[in-house]
Amino acid sequence: AAATAVVVHRRMRSAARWARVTAIMKDFEEKCGTSIENLKQVADAMNLEMHNGLASDSGDATKLKMLISYVDNLPTGNEKGLFYALDLGGTNFRVLRVQLGGKGGGIVNQEFAEVSIPSDLMVGTSEALFDFIAAELAKFVDQEGEDFQLPPGRQRELGFTFSFPVMQSSIASGNLIRWTKGFSIDNTVGQDIVAELTRAMERRGVDMRVSALVNDTVGTLARGRYSNRDVVAAVILGTGTNAAYVEHAHAIPKLDGLLPKSGEMVINMEWGGFRSLHHPLTEYDHALDAESLNPGEQIFEKMISGMYLGEIVRRVLCRMAEEASIFGDTIPPKLEVPFILRTPDMSAMHHDTSSDLKVVDNKLKNILEIPDTSLEIREVVVELCNIVATRGARLAAAGIMGILMKLQRDTINDGEKQMTVVALDGGLYEHYTEFRKCLQNTLKELLGEEVSQSIVFEHSKDGSGIGAALLAASHSRYLELDES
Ligand code: GLC
Repeated sequence: AAATAVVVHRRMRSAARWARVTAIMKDFEEKCGTSIENLKQVADAMNLEMHNGLASDSGDATKLKMLISYVDNLPTGNEKGLFYALDLGGTNFRVLRVQLGGKGGGIVNQEFAEVSIPSDLMVGTSEALFDFIAAELAKFVDQEGEDFQLPPGRQRELGFTFSFPVMQSSIASGNLIRWTKGFSIDNTVGQDIVAELTRAMERRGVDMRVSALVNDTVGTLARGRYSNRDVVAAVILGTGTNAAYVEHAHAIPKLDGLLPKSGEMVINMEWGGFRSLHHPLTEYDHALDAESLNPGEQIFEKMISGMYLGEIVRRVLCRMAEEASIFGDTIPPKLEVPFILRTPDMSAMHHDTSSDLKVVDNKLKNILEIPDTSLEIREVVVELCNIVATRGARLAAAGIMGILMKLQRDTINDGEKQMTVVALDGGLYEHYTEFRKCLQNTLKELLGEEVSQSIVFEHSKDGSGIGAALLAASHSRYLELDES
């Protein structure tokens, strides 16, 4: 009788734990809910904030910045010559060399080098970071082959993709407003980024001139437009998230007299800083935000982008380990390490199609050092990934909807069907298939079948760097020489 009592007791305990797991999951799923009505409100709020941000600079971190990029002409396809680019903003840093063929010639040749940024440099000093960049640049140039030749007497020109909020004062200058993502270097804030880089290049003896300073969204837009004239907006879904689009100059009151000839201006929205009351945060989001490098900032980004999705999943799993002992009587120590569960690993688990969820099992073992989990528990993990990715993708779709509302492009132009193309890039978009599918389906749901046929998503692979090289070309100091 005693033995039976123990078994019954164990079963009850396990039933109680399971009930707790289900309760945590249900509560989380409900709070992550994004009904279509909800998303429409988010899109409306985004649209409204866009108007506000274009009217004036508020300095409020929770408002859309709608930064002026000083790009008033996008590439035409006539760009010609040898140009360089630096791409800084995610976990990796790239140096590129692009040979442009001029009218009809396209990109004749391109080469790049990529290095990951040592994590101590992301939170160190400005000098250390820019010295590192200049050193990589020097290496790249030193190893240059004979194929790449500048006309004699010319200085190398560089497009600098710097993917953080910058208040630009011209196409090739601008001050850092604040760091985002994993960067936090106090003495760079408020400084002119081009001056910082130029000083580091001088220290290193690199003879180059920065001819364009661009955000990755702006670079991606430029790259997209170079090969497709219908590209009017770009979205990055990577470590961080953001969007840029082409706005009518007359719709930007804060341009204040600065009226570009083209009548247009590319706007870097910095939508990662958007915060809409229509998508309340869960307790996990609040905790993640509070413990982040930038509390209270980049709330939209913290619900959507690659830097954070895996971390949200980890936090919910932690709660389940604490309150429902899903991984045994103690909490696995690794599970308590912030950011240990990266979004690529989350994506791998989410896409596990094996009947025994082998990938999930492996990830739990290898990353979190959790041995032997039951199939039910692995299913819980997959479901959590699904909830977190779905919310992120749907919110991103609502953001895109907000831009499309602002653009209000006619779907018919001169009797021809007008396409609206959005260029997208970033690891999250490129590699997380379920996220991408959900984004596309949600946008269709928001727009309706008919309208959605005139909206196209185009993957602009490595667009941010190449786009910067293209903009360096269209802002080259030798342009008039070449044209004459
Ligand atoms: C962050 C940056 C933004 C960038 C985005 C994507 O949101 O603030 O400038 O475009 O990440 O890299």
